[in-house]
Amino acid sequence: MDVREAIQKRRAYRSLEPVEITQDLIYDLAGCAQLSASCFNNQPWRFVFVYESEMLKKMHQALSSGNEWARAASMIVAVLSKKEYDCVIRDRVYHQFDTGMATAFLILRATELGLVAHPIAGYSPKKTREILGIPDDIEVITLVNVGKHSETVSPVLSEKQITDEKKRPERFPFEKFVFLNTYAEKNK
Ligand SMILES: Cc1cc2nc3c(=O)[nH]c(=O)nc-3n(C[C@H](O)[C@H](O)[C@H](O)COP(=O)(O)O)c2cc1C
Repeated sequence: MDVREAIQKRRAYRSLEPVEITQDLIYDLAGCAQLSASCFNNQPWRFVFVYESEMLKKMHQALSSGNEWARAASMIVAVLSKKEYDCVIRDRVYHQFDTGMATAFLILRATELGLVAHPIAGYSPKKTREILGIPDDIEVITLVNVGKHSETVSPVLSEKQITDEKKRPERFPFEKFVFLNTYAEKNK
């Protein structure tokens, strides 16, 4: 699969079926994430790969309502970082940018391997910290839910989630976000 194909195939599917999680898979994903660029090669990302069933069950307590579908994930990757791990240049803070890029690499590699890797913001960082033993000064940026896409639509999905499952949500037209040579915003 080439990069473009992986980008096109990646979807935030919510109907998941189980997939075997091995340490080889985890290190494959981590190995792709770590090749991402970072400011001064600071590598500010930290990942907790949660796949043991007891720990996964505990992590279900951290999911927000609306994300019940994520209970079917075979692995939840907690993506962590903190400001001090990366460049801070006056008002420019880079840890989330660099960690986001590394996470995108992880997600694309998972896609290439035929997996769903769906990041969410709907979770409790406090509960996640408690469950995984993460100190308060480390940010929990996202949880990436990993599984295999199921053709059977998850029974816990809302109407909107079912629609999104079948068809990728619309993207903005280029006019909204592509500027050539100078910035001139027409569509706010
Ligand atoms: C930072 C972030 C937070 C998200 N949070 C949630 C979430 O809490 N629950 C959910 O079901 N999807 C969540 N998503 C998935 C988006 O809804 C999804 O990526 C978007 O609708 C576009 O669909 P696509 O990724 O399939 O193209 C999140 C995605 C990102 C990047």
